[in-house]
Amino acid sequence: METKLVVGNLAEIESECLVVFALDHGDKQKSNAKFALKHAGAEKAAAELMSTGEVTGKLAEAIMLHRPEGLKAKRLLIVGGGKGDKFGHTELRKAAGAALRFLKPKMIKSCAFALPDLSSGAEDAVRAIVEGSFIANFDPDTYRSDRKDLQMKDVTVAAPEGSDKNKLQQSLEQGRIIGESQNFTRELVNEPSNHLTPTMFADRTRKMCESVGLKCEIYGPDKIKEMKMGAFWSVAQGSDEEPRLIVMKYEPQDAPEKPVVGLIGKGITFDTGGISIKPADGMEKMKYDMAGGAAMVGAMRAIGLLKPKVKVISIVCATENMPSGKAQKPGDVQIAMSGKSIEIINTDAEGRLVLADGLHYARTLGCTHLIDAATLTGACVVALGGVNAGIFANDEDIYQHFTKALKRSGEKFWRLPLDAEYFDLIRSNIADIMNTGGRWGGAITAAMFLKEFVEDTPWIHLDIAGTAWNDDNKGWMAKGPSGIAVRSLVEFVKTFERNGA
Ligand code: BES
Ligand code: MN
Ligand code: ZN
Repeated sequence: METKLVVGNLAEIESECLVVFALDHGDKQKSNAKFALKHAGAEKAAAELMSTGEVTGKLAEAIMLHRPEGLKAKRLLIVGGGKGDKFGHTELRKAAGAALRFLKPKMIKSCAFALPDLSSGAEDAVRAIVEGSFIANFDPDTYRSDRKDLQMKDVTVAAPEGSDKNKLQQSLEQGRIIGESQNFTRELVNEPSNHLTPTMFADRTRKMCESVGLKCEIYGPDKIKEMKMGAFWSVAQGSDEEPRLIVMKYEPQDAPEKPVVGLIGKGITFDTGGISIKPADGMEKMKYDMAGGAAMVGAMRAIGLLKPKVKVISIVCATENMPSGKAQKPGDVQIAMSGKSIEIINTDAEGRLVLADGLHYARTLGCTHLIDAATLTGACVVALGGVNAGIFANDEDIYQHFTKALKRSGEKFWRLPLDAEYFDLIRSNIADIMNTGGRWGGAITAAMFLKEFVEDTPWIHLDIAGTAWNDDNKGWMAKGPSGIAVRSLVEFVKTFERNGA
């Protein structure tokens, strides 16, 4: 999809469809929706419609007018941005996406957005429109033989006269990079496990790294065993597919020595549960158990292109979790790379095992700040549903830092606790630690397990089990992989550039 910025009179824009945003201002009068910008042309063209009260401004509502009088555009689309006093870049991103998803099935291939007024500024508004457009342009029906090409081809953002074109052009570029990177992650997550084995996952990551100029090292079983990654290997040993340890490095010359941000992802390309096998019902969804790893790959793509002055190392531990004659069994004891011994209680708690070695390895590579993302626990889905992802932190500074990133990304996370008392639940009789902590507080005991492997390094853990896959279509996003965490991870790294370590 091409994106373009124009500055000038909206009435003069020649387009298949001009999109304007309407907000709900809540007065109970007939016409309570107002445009999110002063624009005499559009207001005049839509005056009769607006007076009927049919336009409510409700988020993602879309109403189209043909041949709008006085405008050069062929159509005028009025899209709801929600309540006027709540309208920010998060709502704008969704509203722009809703506009695209309204236009796409009508085979409309180009549109122009009238840049609305946003309290956080025009640059934010441009970025949100472009990100929302890319996110909405993604469809998951890759393998349908009668797949129709519904893609939007051209999106124009039209800024009012007097706007700083250079600045807005930069925001447009940033939005494109971030939106495309989020979709790159979604493509990976969407792939079934036979089309994305650990080997294929690594190959696609390597190609991406080559295209954006990142260093990429990929290791197989021998190196994983040689490095004594006993926790990672214990999961991989049960599969006929070879595991891959993927290491991406972004080390710009002009970056300070510190921080070195470590992005670690769970890359289980299929999770059967292993010997502690999962029930058949819904197991097909476990192809998305590499969504944390894919989020890191997408974030690294964006970082490679945006070039912040911050060192970043990313590690993805990619393997299947399979039952077989070679698979590990409950009761087995494994020695992690850090030297800690782990009693395996349930082979389905495999994500924390691969991450234990990924996190420890990141520390040995010199990472000063760690952040991991993983579809780690069903318990997190029970606790937070599909709205918020879980966030855990062992350090207040890094948590504050991440909160700043969330303000810019618009993604939803909710913090869960890591009190020392929870550690009692994962003490083992035979080893240092057990890989499960029983029924209660399952998302927390999983995080407590990871905490043992980061020691005193500031660290954030994102449990995205409930948010990496949307079961239903949303106005602004197709059902399927969401690409959660990509935008926040990129903003997290960029926040270091702005604020330092
Ligand atoms: N990949 C799953 C977590 C998961 C469950 C993600 C549901 C998305 C939806 C993870 O590997 C797992 O199986 N976790 C177990 C842990 C348990 C055995 C302690 C779980 O949550 O049931
Ligand atoms: Mn599992
Ligand atoms: Zn899993």
